[in-house]
Amino acid sequence: MSLFATKPLERIISESEGGEHQLKRTLTASQLVALGIGAIIGAGLFSLTGPAAALHAGPAIMLSFVVAALGCAFAGICYSEFSTMIPVAGSAYTYSYATMGELFAWIIGWDLVLEYAVGASTVATSWSRYMVSLLRDFGIHVPMEFAAGPFESVTLPDGTSIASGIINLPAVFIVCAVSILLMIGIQESAKVNSIIVCVKVSVIILFIAFGWSYVNPANHVPLIPESPTGNFGDFGWTGIVRGAGIIFFAYIGFDAVSTAAQEAQRPQRDMPIGIIGSLIVCTILYIAFSYVLTGIVNYKELNDPAAVAVAIDRTPYIWLRKWVKIAIIAGYTSVILVMLLGQSRVFFSMSRDGLLPKFFSSIHPKWQTPWRSNLLFMVFVSVMSAFLPLSKLGEATSIGTLFAFVLVCAGILVMRKTNPNLERPFKTPMVPLIPILGIAVNLYLMYGLGMENWMRLFIWMALGLLVYFSYGRSHSRLGAADKVR
Ligand code: ALA
Repeated sequence: MSLFATKPLERIISESEGGEHQLKRTLTASQLVALGIGAIIGAGLFSLTGPAAALHAGPAIMLSFVVAALGCAFAGICYSEFSTMIPVAGSAYTYSYATMGELFAWIIGWDLVLEYAVGASTVATSWSRYMVSLLRDFGIHVPMEFAAGPFESVTLPDGTSIASGIINLPAVFIVCAVSILLMIGIQESAKVNSIIVCVKVSVIILFIAFGWSYVNPANHVPLIPESPTGNFGDFGWTGIVRGAGIIFFAYIGFDAVSTAAQEAQRPQRDMPIGIIGSLIVCTILYIAFSYVLTGIVNYKELNDPAAVAVAIDRTPYIWLRKWVKIAIIAGYTSVILVMLLGQSRVFFSMSRDGLLPKFFSSIHPKWQTPWRSNLLFMVFVSVMSAFLPLSKLGEATSIGTLFAFVLVCAGILVMRKTNPNLERPFKTPMVPLIPILGIAVNLYLMYGLGMENWMRLFIWMALGLLVYFSYGRSHSRLGAADKVR
């Protein structure tokens, strides 16, 4: 079978609609929007906005949020077209299988591990820091050796630090707790997610509302600080682009909505609402949040992962500090939840296609979830979070995600050529302009992430190709069907 054989759409859809490998269609439009917001608002907003403003963009970090949102919006629109046309689990992986063939599908499926599993692991490590710090506020002291891996030095938001630890147990705890919830059921997970989303969005709105009157307009002038060196990324216009590359992490996750397409009640109507709706809500919140943050504290003083706390200290609302910590912990929890959900659904689809062992697509008879897939990732992500220094892997998450966005945008162009007459409940406007802009902006952001990250991407992909050629290719159901014919 050719490496570039595509899987016919009718087959993808009919396979998803029967048999033992079946997921339940229970998610509503508002649950999908909540799922998106659940995956989006997390470490990116709370930990990266301050440093990105201090080191690269200044108050123009607001514009960085707009630039990053544009790249995401182009990709989000393309995701919407695919997810209504192919409303099955698996997201970008499934779309590539239908458009660019098995090899590309494999590449993207493998690449998504960087976004979802490694992303979940990165956020779990930060979760652990805030949790240990919150417990301290309540007089409970977790020994620092058990809150950090052996290869990393850790500084808590309250300044306590350790040069290296033994194992990051709180991170393992949250990964296991969330995985068990996911195994028990999608509805249960969606309900918990909706509650968490309410908490984090309320606290962000409180911060914006209370902080608004403490904004000092002088802190926003000049909006775009002049570059002192003229180097790329050192303030000025290029600083805005560099800032966008960094805070892009804050938008990662909206595409995870598309992995739940097979569990949506009315995917044709609700997928675009879920994807684009969550993106719009978050963009508005992010711009308002960064306006207030850089308005209360001068950008030069914001190089602090706990920059929000610095801003709150400049207002009379010190009590808000504890709530922000709770919102951050809640926020990170839902990011981990949706990332692990997305990961299990992608492997579910790859396994159903025979590219991975059957293990990943067996559905639990009572819970109706791909529980074994959740179980395996529970172990894999726990081990990574327990021992690995994941600061750099955060960037691996970004490059992996951007790569997926580029392929999805390219997929729309291919699909319009190969299947021009197919019914498209949601149509990307201005094709080819929007997909081309999506490819260009996201490639540019990838370029900004530097050589080291490209190398990581290549190594991970080389490993993936090894797995594909030693297992996937010979077990592919598409390949088997070809042989029968
Ligand atoms: N967007 C997610 C976050 O910022 C990954 O944590």
